[in-house]
Amino acid sequence: MDASRASNPLFGPNRFKLGVFSANCDGGLTMSLAPERWPCNWDDIAAMSVLADEAGLEFILPVAKWRGYQGRANVYGKSFETLTHGAALGALTKRIAIFSTVHVPLVTPAFAAKAIATIDHVSHGRAGLNIVCGWNQNEFDLHGVKIDPETRYDHGLEWFEIWSRLLRGGPEFDWDGRFFHLKKLHTNPVSIQRPWPAVMSAGFSPKGRDFAARAADVLFLNVTELDQVPAILADVETQMARYDRSISVFTMGHVVCRPTRKEAEDYFHYFAEEMEDPEGQAYYIKNRGATVSDGSRQIARPLLNRFHRATGLHYAGAYPGVYPFVGTPDDIADEMARMSASGLAGCTVAFVDYLKEIPYFLAEVLPRLERLGLRAPDA
Ligand SMILES: Cc1cc2nc3c(=O)[nH]c(=O)nc-3n(C[C@H](O)[C@H](O)[C@H](O)COP(=O)(O)O)c2cc1C
Repeated sequence: MDASRASNPLFGPNRFKLGVFSANCDGGLTMSLAPERWPCNWDDIAAMSVLADEAGLEFILPVAKWRGYQGRANVYGKSFETLTHGAALGALTKRIAIFSTVHVPLVTPAFAAKAIATIDHVSHGRAGLNIVCGWNQNEFDLHGVKIDPETRYDHGLEWFEIWSRLLRGGPEFDWDGRFFHLKKLHTNPVSIQRPWPAVMSAGFSPKGRDFAARAADVLFLNVTELDQVPAILADVETQMARYDRSISVFTMGHVVCRPTRKEAEDYFHYFAEEMEDPEGQAYYIKNRGATVSDGSRQIARPLLNRFHRATGLHYAGAYPGVYPFVGTPDDIADEMARMSASGLAGCTVAFVDYLKEIPYFLAEVLPRLERLGLRAPDA
């Protein structure tokens, strides 16, 4: 690792890394009608991010959304744009990595290079880019941009090659590729992190994994039970070997942490089962299935978790494919330890009400993870 990346905790020593996901959108990471669901007010996002920063979590990861999921909850109906969100949080925090999620068909590589370099300077080397190629044509219609399911990752890779070359610095260059024809490319300033800031991508399809193996430092995958991990990691290993690169694999979780297991499980049942939003779910299934080639398979046989298996219920008010961390602080720390032992290098956390719930998680679960040797005590 280049020493200039040492300022980014994504590359720090903790064995199991943690980030807060999706707090820039209302509903957070739910599809729930629960009235207390995250309203995504700026001051709450800022306050919650400062708590995560002070506790030593590794990163904040927002989602890029342009339209809500309709239904009665219309989750994601309100969301903050992620580059400007990143610059603001970079100024308000001291240590945590600040990711911006960019739909590559909507932003030119030169624009994103300048924006990410800006955040990297504001944050003194803590910026990150989460590359998403897009799946929801219905939201892209707002920009008049067509998603091509066949070429979206090829386009993303060319975009990444230009973006990363710009941030590497050096003489001006022209680009004459398959998707981009650009003249006199340069950017100033370049990023503090060298050769460029941390890159994540989230791709479930084979092309998505191939893209991550070529371009990313971290790949996000959906895992809802740990017995799914070995096969997934074996596939990622094969991809990495092909490009002689090494990347970390993270997954995304939803946390319900309470003093007793019963309280936690009752609350999960309440927001994810009793308060589910079937119309929002239907919108997601329809639009996702239209773009993602293996989407119908994934959706017809949803990724099961232990709650589905135990009860036969769907818990559809939790986001599809999210890993449920539901229980006491001991339960959650133990589950994270099992996740780490399975080979995953980190995960994101989300809460129904981030600001209200994160203090208990930080105070109770982090010290347990330290005792389990997954994270160093915070300096
Ligand atoms: C952690 C994570 C963050 C994501 N963020 C976004 C996002 O902000 N906007 C978006 O349109 N898609 C987002 N996605 C969806 C992915 O870009 C991608 O479509 C999904 O993982 C499925 O992969 P596939 O398209 O290769 O099948 C995210 C996925 C994950 C797991």
